[in-house]
Amino acid sequence: MSSNLIEKAVQAQAERQAAAHADVAHPQPLAAPADEAPLVRATDLAKTFDVSAPWLNRVIERQPRQLLRAVDGVSFDIPRGQTLALVGESGCGKSTVARLLVGLYEPTRGGFEFDGLDAHAAFKTPQGRHLRRRIQMIFQDPYASLNPRWIVEDIIAEPLREHGIETEPVALRERVDELLKSVGLSPLDRVKYPHQFSGGQRQRISIARALATQPEFLVCDEPTSALDVSVQAQVLNIMKDLQRERGLTYLFISHNLAVVRHVSDQVGVMYLGRLVELAPKHTLFDTPRHPYTRMLLDAIPKMHDTGRARTPVSGEVPNPLNPPDGCAFNPRCPHVNERCRVERPNLLTLGGIRIACHAVEEGRI
Ligand SMILES: Nc1ncnc2c1ncn2[C@@H]1O[C@H](COP(=O)(O)OP(=O)(O)O)[C@@H](O)[C@H]1O
Ligand SMILES: [Mg+2]
Repeated sequence: MSSNLIEKAVQAQAERQAAAHADVAHPQPLAAPADEAPLVRATDLAKTFDVSAPWLNRVIERQPRQLLRAVDGVSFDIPRGQTLALVGESGCGKSTVARLLVGLYEPTRGGFEFDGLDAHAAFKTPQGRHLRRRIQMIFQDPYASLNPRWIVEDIIAEPLREHGIETEPVALRERVDELLKSVGLSPLDRVKYPHQFSGGQRQRISIARALATQPEFLVCDEPTSALDVSVQAQVLNIMKDLQRERGLTYLFISHNLAVVRHVSDQVGVMYLGRLVELAPKHTLFDTPRHPYTRMLLDAIPKMHDTGRARTPVSGEVPNPLNPPDGCAFNPRCPHVNERCRVERPNLLTLGGIRIACHAVEEGRI
């Protein structure tokens, strides 16, 4: 895989940028003092989809109702100005968490507090409009998320008009120009259509559009996964700069641990709808505890390969409609024992991290 290339490219880019801006003092990050309440708090967040066949088919074929637990009790905090990365293989529920946080889905259970406010209650009230301004989302595919028939100016100005933030044409154009410049595009790009840009430039347009309402929290769902390695590095660095300049808080979703290494403060590893490990970035990369986290890390080609044999990610994610009993990871786990096959591990706080693993809890690994 090209993950080590991403790592190198991000670093090289960052170094070049640092050199170029060495004399420009960056504003201090608006990181919250440790005792301040987190900006984002998800508590036992869950979303179940009813994927049953239509009623009549069920009756004729005597099928039971089928429920898919896409997200099954996820809890985390994100302090203001910081980044939580969520990683895990496809289908583990990352996008569903993203959609819950921006109010596209109602939770089946649990909730989400934003700046001390019950967000899902607020989304339904007149206050909800204001809340939607404060929380924005960036999607994986910048082409699908930009209207191909609109010029860039209209794409970026839409949220400003929609929220009544700016309606006066000259001021509106100035805002659009500023936003374009903030993501490294030119005001001249205003009159172009999305297809006239490269993938990386289109993702910058999406970022500019997401920033239009001056949000505090950006939910980024695989924002660079569709891009080439070198372009990924550019976009990641722009996102980091914007975070520093504006004190933004990110939920950054990726299936690739190598990508999140450079953008996260904390990393949450998800497996089949649940968090299995949640730890500060350095702790997670230096001393991964959960066998699944280790498996994902071992799959990343190392920049300085030690010559040690790697364990590639092996086995397949179980069918979410028929998850295994006990720990959902047990069929793939090298440390499985009888308890793992019957008892589902809870996410416990052990040694400063959150971990759901019997083997770690029992000191077997
Ligand atoms: N709208 C939906 N209806 C039914 N099932 C869904 C829906 N959205 C997601 N799922 C299922 O929920 C699980 C998690 O999906 P998703 O959140 O997209 O995972 P990820 O983003 O990690 O790939 C998958 O099994 C997926 O098939
Ligand atoms: Mg997804």
